[in-house]
Amino acid sequence: MFVVVFYLNDTIMINPSEATPLKNLDEWEEDLLRRYPDPENIATSKSTEAYRNYETPERDTVREFYRLNHTYQTYDFVMKKREEFLSFNKREMPVWEAFNFLNQLVDDSDPDTDLDQWQHLLQTSEAIRRDGHPDWMVLVGLIHDMGKVLCLFGEPQWAVVGDTFPVGCAPSDKIVYPEFFKLNPDIGNDDYNTKYGIYSPNCGLRNVHMSWGHDEYVYHMVKDRMPEQGLYMLRYHSFYAQHREGAYDHLMDGHDHEMFKAVKLFNPYDLYSKNPTPPDWNKLRPYYEDLVAKYLPSTLKF
Ligand SMILES: [Fe+2]
Ligand SMILES: [Fe+2]
Repeated sequence: MFVVVFYLNDTIMINPSEATPLKNLDEWEEDLLRRYPDPENIATSKSTEAYRNYETPERDTVREFYRLNHTYQTYDFVMKKREEFLSFNKREMPVWEAFNFLNQLVDDSDPDTDLDQWQHLLQTSEAIRRDGHPDWMVLVGLIHDMGKVLCLFGEPQWAVVGDTFPVGCAPSDKIVYPEFFKLNPDIGNDDYNTKYGIYSPNCGLRNVHMSWGHDEYVYHMVKDRMPEQGLYMLRYHSFYAQHREGAYDHLMDGHDHEMFKAVKLFNPYDLYSKNPTPPDWNKLRPYYEDLVAKYLPSTLKF
């Protein structure tokens, strides 16, 4: 099967039929729960074979999603997206307006499957708060998926969500659907297709470019505003190949390993906090208004 990505005056043009392989973004997260059903097994290396053979209609959309993700997320693609979005010149709005904006991602064709984006954020932050973690981690729970607004700026789903992975070096076979990387042009580039690629052993993730998506985007949005552990949680929460599979130890340094304790601590709140009963927002509101005011400016730039 062929995919079409081309450049016009240096702007990436995406085939519109390939922008939304998923019925909604939750399909990716539901698939994560199929792959990682057990909170007890966090950070243990486990075989990925068990879920690869699992076939359902939903799996087909997820499979197509990863085909596109693994095909298009090249080193050059990431550089172009960083240039396009990390100047934060698209829109400026208060955090609360951003949550409303994000909720436009609710998919009407599938009304009863899931809670909206805002409920996921609030349930994640409330689960973190219940366990007595520091308030900045509660804030991480509240904003960790805010970068999904990229979809509302017209970005294709596979450039917003999905497991993230380093670009500029060979992809690990621990990444979900690794077979699709053979479609990625970087596999034919000798600068990028070796174990270390453009990087050096244990160079530290601060020197590594990840595939483009909502993690990297929200990290840059708030990177001067909270403790480093919180920033690692935001930046690497979709890096399952590392925080669940340990596949990129060769690029990590000692500091990354220390910080990934935080990433691993955060992950179960993201995956396992969903509850059909929404929290009572009216009761919670004063706490969250104070929390947001403590760490974030009155408006955020997108
Ligand atoms: Fe996320
Ligand atoms: Fe999430």
